[in-house]
Amino acid sequence: MDFTFTEEQLMIQQSARDYAQRELIKDVLERDAKAEYPTQHVKALAELGFLGMLVDPKYDGGGMDTISYVLAMEELSKIDSSISVIMSVNNSLVCYGIEAFGTEAQKEKWLKPLARGEQIGAFLLSEPEAGSDATSQRTLAIDKGDHYLVNGVKNWITNGNSAAVYVLIAQTYPDKGHKGINAFIVDRHSPGITLGPHEDKMGMRSSDTHSVMFTDVKVPKENRLGEDGFGFKFAMKTLEGGRIGIAAQALGIAQGAYERAVKYAKERKTFGTEIINHQAIGFKLAEMHTRIEAARYFCLKAAWLKDQGKSYGTASAMAKYWAAETAMYVTTEAVQIHGGYGYVKEYHVERLMREAKLTQIYEGTSEIQQMIISRAIMSE
Ligand code: CAA
Repeated sequence: MDFTFTEEQLMIQQSARDYAQRELIKDVLERDAKAEYPTQHVKALAELGFLGMLVDPKYDGGGMDTISYVLAMEELSKIDSSISVIMSVNNSLVCYGIEAFGTEAQKEKWLKPLARGEQIGAFLLSEPEAGSDATSQRTLAIDKGDHYLVNGVKNWITNGNSAAVYVLIAQTYPDKGHKGINAFIVDRHSPGITLGPHEDKMGMRSSDTHSVMFTDVKVPKENRLGEDGFGFKFAMKTLEGGRIGIAAQALGIAQGAYERAVKYAKERKTFGTEIINHQAIGFKLAEMHTRIEAARYFCLKAAWLKDQGKSYGTASAMAKYWAAETAMYVTTEAVQIHGGYGYVKEYHVERLMREAKLTQIYEGTSEIQQMIISRAIMSE
């Protein structure tokens, strides 16, 4: 593996960095306080080509590689993960799934506007009683001949309201367990779809998270993704890539908090010297820096494997596990280094700490990643 970045990868990294440091930073505190959806920023990300960056140009995407995606996700997440989660869900969970497993007609109709960023997508897998245990799908999609009739509730849906397109996972044949699950493309404005309120979250407050209720929603037969009963595998394959995005997000949160901690430690004086000169602080920064570097290599390795067309499920679980744990560790230490200042909003590190927590939970908790890694060890 050679992680010398190409000119193009460096350009993408720089463009994400410029946008984050120049634009996202301006209103991030206000959006966090108001839990306000970042409409203008989403539009700008679409113009930058980031919302469909992984999609083949044939379907109006950016045709960029997964390494570039990791670099862009890191830069945006240093400043605001409410934004990067919108981008990650659209790229990895929605566009990828349709591009990899959809028909040509589905790609023409649904993928192109998503890849251009004109529309946003959401991924509906979790339910009130099916989070980590994703095979326990209760939402039913019953085959009615020319359409499926969907009834049920989905939970914690990122882009729940802002999305125009849902990728829905639901059970068609309950007696077949996970082999009876299907995946569908659903028009979010279909009759029978209603939303719960915007969830009042601890962090990533300006991305919109909702529960979504389906009451007798008709989904045309041609909207099923893949063969009958492929839905669970579809979700698992899709999440393998999603976890690279969230790992890169966690990496960015950690890096952002670390950079703030270093800056503060070089300015703040106690006992007659800058606090970075105290071993207690210097060692903390050394530990933070080392863990972050390891997280970065895990992310790049998973991205590289995906770009090479090799198997990357275990690598993406390792990347997400380590990067999320690192983000939580580093942001907590960054708050500690800032002392009282770290506990107030204007220094950003408390917000980054709130954002880090979610990376240990969504797209598979840290414990689920450990389960995936340990199963891979068992099958070696
Ligand atoms: N690729 C392809 N197939 C896979 C697979 C993969 N990565 N992982 C599992 N499968 C297949 C298995 O081979 C098996 O198929 P067969 O019976 O034909 O062999 C089938 O799927 C069932 O697999 P398991 O027996 O391993 O299933 P399990 O019940 O033990 O669960 C799990 C596996 C990995 C724990 C899974 O349930 C899981 O990933 N849970 C976490 C769910 C999750 O990540 N949710 C995130 C929600 S989305 C989100 O957060 C988005 C957002 O808005 C930000």
